[in-house]
Amino acid sequence: MSKSLYFTSPDKEKTVMELLRERDINISAPCGGFGSCGKCKIKLEGELSPLTEIEKSRLTESEIKNGVRLACRVYPEGDFIAYLSESVGFSVLTDNNLSGKPVGTSVATGWGIGVDIGTTTVAVYLCSMEEGTAVDVKSFVNPQTSYGADVISRLSYIREQRNGLQTLQKQIITAIDEAVKSFGKEISYLAFAGNTVMQHISAGIDPSGIAVAPFTPTTLFGYELNSADIGLCCNNVPVWFMPCAASYVGGDILSGLCACGADMADGLTLYLDIGTNGEIALGDKNGFTTCATAAGPAFEGAGIECGSPGVEGAINKIKIENGKANFETIGGFPPVGICGSALIDLTAELLRNGIVDETGFMEENFNLTDDGRLYLSPKDIRQLQLAKAAIAAGIDTLLIKTGKKESDVDRVILAGGFGSFIDRKSAALIGLIPAALESKITAVGNASGAGAVKWLTDSYFRESLNALNEKTDYIELSSDPVFSERFMERMFFE
Ligand code: FES
Repeated sequence: MSKSLYFTSPDKEKTVMELLRERDINISAPCGGFGSCGKCKIKLEGELSPLTEIEKSRLTESEIKNGVRLACRVYPEGDFIAYLSESVGFSVLTDNNLSGKPVGTSVATGWGIGVDIGTTTVAVYLCSMEEGTAVDVKSFVNPQTSYGADVISRLSYIREQRNGLQTLQKQIITAIDEAVKSFGKEISYLAFAGNTVMQHISAGIDPSGIAVAPFTPTTLFGYELNSADIGLCCNNVPVWFMPCAASYVGGDILSGLCACGADMADGLTLYLDIGTNGEIALGDKNGFTTCATAAGPAFEGAGIECGSPGVEGAINKIKIENGKANFETIGGFPPVGICGSALIDLTAELLRNGIVDETGFMEENFNLTDDGRLYLSPKDIRQLQLAKAAIAAGIDTLLIKTGKKESDVDRVILAGGFGSFIDRKSAALIGLIPAALESKITAVGNASGAGAVKWLTDSYFRESLNALNEKTDYIELSSDPVFSERFMERMFFE
């Protein structure tokens, strides 16, 4: 099913993507509209600029025959029609196994809103302050994904476009506002948890300093703003922004660490939140050392030729039998691409079957469908190697810098959507997580969202979070020689 949108006398200086954004229509644009991801496909009809070389390389013959174009590469030359396909369902992880009665007392009355603002997805929880728990949740894809899949693309947009910050802030605040309104309750308090860039944008504070060395944020938060000042509909109520450890270790990590009790537990905890940016924390009740590593978009299914986010039809489970791929898709829909967790499974299967060697060499594309429409390419394997090496080297560096060994780690906590869907055996086999730690892994789900809820409802959590903020350090990896050395070694499959 698709709906058609007519553009008459459009501005010929703007791409189709820009014209769609002006009408508040956001289509997937993982590379932020730079023509490198090939994911912003849209069927168009009318007077349009000729096909570019990039489009010829990214579109199949049948797509070209059917009028499919890349929205970020095509300009109108007169009137045209855009055919918008109905958006497919996106699985957003809102669950966690971290709820439970507050330890402390309730800090407010009435209704509160806890928000986990992910770069890709957003979860908005309605909390009963008296009951001390979330009673409802709404989730959606972050509308900013139309401006790039990762924080780097969003930062570029803000740095390069006039009113870029205001545009992106409006996108997220409007979406949160709609979710809040749909609950139909009088709200007395909100708590936001997100990475440092998402929190800056939501607060309308310029995050540009985070984009370039020495990566300085304008603020590390840990305070309240007024809802009306950031454009939310609920009048003059406080909005708490979680404290961030550094530019690339945000309020979502401190919120999650505290929500799963890692800051109070005996023994050593390794906490991982894996996405385009991998955030890693290692520590115990005496304090945590954190770092962040740019894993790139492979785990989100972007940057992979037939990659897909976790939408209906995305391949999410895969096995190789007799040299052929057997797979399942989300919702049982026809396959549309490979999502990040299946990419890890597939690579593990290719290694087990000797189709990829330990250096990452694969002779040719591995076809997933008989018609060759979906496949994994040698270049995709390289992207995965870069992503997994970044995470594994980040873990190694934290262990080395804190004088710990893998065997000292008592538990590995995987937070976030991606962590909940990956197969721990496959993750260990490709070397994403040290094999020795495989049996110690627990996936906790949306820990950041759980922390936002607890902040609203539990005075004890507030004290713990503030204490954790005081005893959290950060290591910058971008120029660290230990990290560089470990990164090269971790490129191999072990
Ligand atoms: S190619 Fe158009 S958004 Fe990436």
